[in-house]
Amino acid sequence: MKKFITVNDAPSISTLIESAFRYKANPFIDKHLGTNKTMGMLFLNPSMRTRISTQLAAKHLGMEVLVFNVGNEGWALEFEEEVIMSGTTVEHVKDAAPVLGKYFDVLGVRTFPTLKDKAEDYGEFYIQQFIKYSGVPVVSLESATLHPLQSLTDLITITETFKENRKPKIVLTWAPHVKALPQCVANSFSQWINAWGKTDFVITHPEDYELDPQFTKGALITHHQQEALKDADFVYVKNWSTYNDYGKIYSNDPSWMLTKKKMEVTNNAKLMHCLPVRRNVELSDEVLDNGNSLVTQQASNRVWAAQSVLAEILHNMGK
Ligand code: CP
Repeated sequence: MKKFITVNDAPSISTLIESAFRYKANPFIDKHLGTNKTMGMLFLNPSMRTRISTQLAAKHLGMEVLVFNVGNEGWALEFEEEVIMSGTTVEHVKDAAPVLGKYFDVLGVRTFPTLKDKAEDYGEFYIQQFIKYSGVPVVSLESATLHPLQSLTDLITITETFKENRKPKIVLTWAPHVKALPQCVANSFSQWINAWGKTDFVITHPEDYELDPQFTKGALITHHQQEALKDADFVYVKNWSTYNDYGKIYSNDPSWMLTKKKMEVTNNAKLMHCLPVRRNVELSDEVLDNGNSLVTQQASNRVWAAQSVLAEILHNMGK
């Protein structure tokens, strides 16, 4: 694996999940795999879970890790090609990324969507520029449209939780929010669940909140949240802004907030959310502060997801 941006970069989803469980059982089993290797983690957007879990994962493998908050501490980066840099940007990614490629063996990058220019966001312009110019493997720490470490974590969490000899029913439900959020967690979860093919997958959202069909194809999509929730084994709650009329909030309908009452029609479903979450906006306290909530388990599994991905990259170095 030379990069980790989408599910298509994963040689085998099942192998990554098995590897994650191996590291969860014994975090230091490969503590020399990354000896004398360095990882740089660049954040152009804030993070808690991704930042800490990926650092822990790299350290378990014996890597040295440096974190750089580009947004707060670095020079303002320019990404457009052939631009006249007479504005606020100070350094071109074309100059910065090759330097980072000399400092580090692996680069983790968190970028962001504009939520204005759909073509630019869905072309993954920012992270592609780092791939193009750094010359080292790039791991997405969340990009404009996808969040693969989160999705791998989600599949790990579902696998370790569901032990019945049948396909679990998984419902991804849109939730209200106070601001326009990216589609990346919902896109990525859909992409990984569909590629995995081991679940009955339903997506429910208000009208006009369709996600990009390249990720959702294969899922049953409905605007009737309560119907969708019936007999669900897992309910994944997430807000996203509109995809078609890009980056808008069409609805903030509080009736879409997930409540205990709504969960009554499920198969005693487990609750999933990537965090951070807006309590009593996306879902109610009583749903989150409940034994069926997997959110802490999900977040803790971020370490093992990152460790399985970094190990795969380290194993492939020099091949
Ligand atoms: N879920 C997630 O990526 O959390 P952070 O934004 O805190 O990294």
